[in-house]
Amino acid sequence: PYLVVIHGPNLNRLGVRKPETYGTQTLDDVISLVRSVADGYGLDVLDKQSNHEGDLIDFLQLHGPGAAGILINPGAFGHYSYAIRDCLEDIARPTVEVHISNVHQRESFRHQLVLGDVVMGQVVGLGTEGYRYAAEALCRRYRNDAA
Ligand code: DQA
Repeated sequence: PYLVVIHGPNLNRLGVRKPETYGTQTLDDVISLVRSVADGYGLDVLDKQSNHEGDLIDFLQLHGPGAAGILINPGAFGHYSYAIRDCLEDIARPTVEVHISNVHQRESFRHQLVLGDVVMGQVVGLGTEGYRYAAEALCRRYRNDAA
């Protein structure tokens, strides 16, 4: 069993881009964090970062249906990608959306989160620690569903 971890555009630059907003942890650091949580529940992690919407959808269509859960930081796609929203709706696996920054305190174009109605929950504004909470929530959901 495995969790799918998806990162959208520009998140390959984590740790370098706007550290005052997104912190100093790198993408590898946050994936290791998720891995360490998942490990404790006997779950593997399958991760994908892409700057291309269609690549993320291809990956989700391939690996999403078999996943114990999906953790997604869609980056800016979270504000407007109906295609990713529809894909998650179609896959219908427990999904938690993470945004490192509190998007509601930022520019108004970041206030809309279009995946909201197809995810189990959202972790917003808690920094990269948010990944820990999201991973915990997905792992516990998996453990409860399996019981
Ligand atoms: C982000 C917030 C988005 O608005 C932004 O486009 C990102 C990162 C976050 O994790 O805070 O790329 O998803």
